[in-house]
Amino acid sequence: MNIGVLVSGRGSNLQALIDAYKAGKIEGSIALVISDNPNAYAIERCKRHGIPYQIVLRQDFTSKKDFEREMVRLLKEREVELVVLAGFMRVLSKEFLDAFPMRVINIHPSLIPAFQGLNAQKQALDYGAKITGCTVHFVSQELDNGPVIIQACVPITPEDTEDSLSEKILKFEHKILPQAVKWISEGRVKIDGRKVVVEGAVYGTLPVNPMLEYSF
Ligand code: GRF
Repeated sequence: MNIGVLVSGRGSNLQALIDAYKAGKIEGSIALVISDNPNAYAIERCKRHGIPYQIVLRQDFTSKKDFEREMVRLLKEREVELVVLAGFMRVLSKEFLDAFPMRVINIHPSLIPAFQGLNAQKQALDYGAKITGCTVHFVSQELDNGPVIIQACVPITPEDTEDSLSEKILKFEHKILPQAVKWISEGRVKIDGRKVVVEGAVYGTLPVNPMLEYSF
C-alpha cells in the first residue's frame, strides 16, 4: 500500500514510519510527504532518506478548498491509498476526507476522547490524570475523534513535567503509529460503526499496551 504523510513540524512520527518501512516491517512505501510548513524538520528527514515530499502552503491558495484540492491531487497522483496525519496542524474538511473514505488516520497524544485538541499532554497534567497515553484513530469531521484503531497508556507520576510526559508518550506514539499502518496495509482493519476490529490481533496482558504485536 502506498501511504501519504501530512506533517507540519518535527516529524518524529514520520521518522518512526520511515524506520519501519526501511526495516521491512511494513510492506509498501511512503509515496509522498506533504508539509504545510516550509521550515518543518520533517522535510530534512525526507531529504536524508530520499522520500518524495512537497511543500504546500495555505497562503498560496485563495481558499481552504483549493489548498486541500491541491493536496488531494498530489496524493492521488502518487496513488496514495492511506493518508497519515503525523503532527499535521490543520483540520481537514469533509471534502478532503471524502476523497479518502475511512483512509485518513491521525496520531493524538492522549487517550481520546480525553484531552482532545492542542497541548493534550499539558491538559492531562493540569487535570491531575494518573494515566494518559496516545491514540491512533480514523479521522472524522470532529476534531481528534473518530474510530480508535490502537491506544497505548502511559502513567503520570508526580515528578512529571509537560516535557517529560510528552517524551514518555512520544515513545509509544512511535510504536502504535507504525503498528496501525501495518495493520491497515495488511487489510486487517474493519470498521463497525465506531468500533474498529483488527483481524487476528493478539490480545496479551501487558498493562501498557495489550495490542502491540511487534517491537522496534
Ligand atoms: C505528536 O505528539 C502527535 O501526537 C501530535 O503532534 C505531535 C507531532 O510530533 N499530533 P512529530 O512531528 O511527529 O515529532
